[in-house]
Parts: sequence; structure tokens; C-alpha cells
Amino acid sequence: MKKHYLIIAIETSLDETCAAVTVNDRVLSNVISSQVELHKKYGGVVPIIAKRAHEERIEAVMNESLKRASVQLRRHAEFTRLAGSKRVSESNRFRIPSGILKVNKSGMTKQVQDDGIFPLLGLLISGGHTQLVLVHGFGKYELLGETLDDAAGEAFDKVGRMLGIGYPGGPIIERLAKDGDERAFNLPIPMRKRRDENFNFSYSGIKTALLYLTRELKEQGKLDKQTIQNLAASFQRVVMLSLIDKLELAVKKTNPKGILLGGGVISNLYIRNHIRAAMSKLQLPVYIPYSKKLFTDNAAMIGVVAYFTAQRDEFVRNIDELDRVQNLSFARK
Ligand code: KG4
Repeated sequence: MKKHYLIIAIETSLDETCAAVTVNDRVLSNVISSQVELHKKYGGVVPIIAKRAHEERIEAVMNESLKRASVQLRRHAEFTRLAGSKRVSESNRFRIPSGILKVNKSGMTKQVQDDGIFPLLGLLISGGHTQLVLVHGFGKYELLGETLDDAAGEAFDKVGRMLGIGYPGGPIIERLAKDGDERAFNLPIPMRKRRDENFNFSYSGIKTALLYLTRELKEQGKLDKQTIQNLAASFQRVVMLSLIDKLELAVKKTNPKGILLGGGVISNLYIRNHIRAAMSKLQLPVYIPYSKKLFTDNAAMIGVVAYFTAQRDEFVRNIDELDRVQNLSFARK
């Protein structure tokens, strides 16, 4: 008989305190408590503030995720006071015996079929990562390329800071770009010269180019609203072009059956639409998560991945060997 996995998953890797309840590949609840307001005035995530906020919020977030999933613990679980982020992520030691759980019936159906849908080409564009990954199957990932310096989202945020428009820069740049001329400035397209050489990305060059340009415009007293909108649009355009360059190269070399997009930057409709258009010319479907809450840090993805991992019986046998590995990569080049 097929085993069902009811999982409560936790995500506290950066600035969102998240808990989700999943059954197999189904998401029953996905609660995210964003800390963006706390970090705003610093223009980036401050680890000590993030850690404290995780400690304060994790209990309520977990309770809310259980409630929304209609999963009832008969005995109220004991939440210990957690000393730090590391302890927070260890709180998944909670054992939830299946006998005492009541589950939504609807969560127990459907199984994702992997016949014939792979390989898929994944592009992850977030604040921490810019990666191209060839997905051969569930749990079978091949890292084709990644950023050599800043992540795409990080570049958006740094440019946002440079332009003095607020944090996080990504959504603000997208908004400003709508009223800007994307060809007003002839910015270098990241990695264009090495377009066909490898699958890597780089955003430090464009960031430096913009830094000098902004400084110059400021000194000349020309950094007005329209100019900022033009800079935002021009920057957004070259980031989009750099992503499409590498996607097209990877499609040519690996012949995937579809494209998967993930990470906070895919909230950007301009980038998403251009990627869709470029891939549709190659007759490739583009898949994005069905909810915006699944684009960025969330615990639902942890729960679903845990289910596929459990199915492969890849359990940690000795819990004491389990430790946090910073920036652990899921796939090697
Ligand atoms: O996935 P995520 O939470 O990052 C990591 O946890 O690594 O996504 C956050 C990133 C930020 O850098 C933010 O500026 C960017 O996604 N972002 C956007 C947009 N919305 C969010 N970048 C460009 N355009 C957007 N509309």
C-alpha cells in the first residue's frame, strides 16, 4: 500500500517565518509571516533582527498553519522556547503520529506522474540565487550554471538603493520602469560577450556601470523622476536580456520539454512575459507556481520536496548528525 506523508514544514532561512502543512504533493496550508517591514530601514536583511523575529513568530505561524490545514493535534504540542535560528529549524523534530491526526480527505489523492515530463529546465531567480538547473526527474538535479557574483534579485535591490527609491528594489523598479524609456541608456548586457560560452550569470558589471552613471547624472543635476524611470526601465531590460540569453543557450544544448521558473524575481511581469515570448518561439511551455506565495521563501516547497525525498527513503538515520549547512547546494556542476 502506498504510504501517505503528512508533513509540517518550516522555513526560516532568511527573512520570512514560514510553516506549511502538506500531504504528499498537496499543500494544505502555507503561512508566511514576512519581516520585510522590519528590515526596510536598513536596506537589506539584518541577521540578528531576523533571528529574533523568527523566535517571536514561529509558534504562532506553526499553529496557524495547522489550523488552516484543519489538522488537529489531539494533545496540544509543546513548543519549547527556541534560543536561535538554528534551534528554530530543528523544531521539526516534532513527531506527529498519524493516529492522532485528522486530515482533509481531498489531500490524499493525486500523485504527480513523472513519466515523460522530464527533462525540464529550471531558472531560479531570487534575492540569493540565480541558477540554471536541468531537472532530470524528482530529486535529480544538474546545476548548469549560476551567478558568479550577485544574484539577479540582489542586483535589483542594490540598484534600488543606488537610485534611492526604497527597499526591496525589485518591485519598485518594475513599477517605475512602466513609465520609463528602456532604451534611454545604452547599458551593457551582462555576459553578452560570453553569451555562448557557459551558463553563468554576472550582475556586478551592470551594477558598477549604473553606479557611475547615477553619480554622473546626480552631479549634473539630472537625476529627476523621469531619468530614474528611464534608468529603471533600461536596467530591467538588460537583466531580462541576460536571462533569456542563457535560457536560449541552455535550451539549445539540453533540449528540455519545458521551462520552470522560480524565485522572487519572477513576480516581475515584464521579465516573465519576455521569457514566455522567447520560449514560445521555441515551442516550449513555461511553468510558474500557481500562487505568488510559492515564488519566494515558503515552507510548502520544503514539505513537498520532503515528501519526494521520503518516498526515495532518503532519511537521516542519525538525527545527531543533522546539522545546518550554510548555502547548501542541491545540485553540483
Ligand atoms: O525569492 P526571494 O524571497 O529571495 C530570496 O529569498 O533569495 O525574492 C526576493 C527578491 C528580492 O531581491 C526582490 O527585489 C526580488 O525578489 N523581486 C523582484 C520583484 N519582486 C520581488 N525583482 C524584480 N521585479 C519584481 N517585481
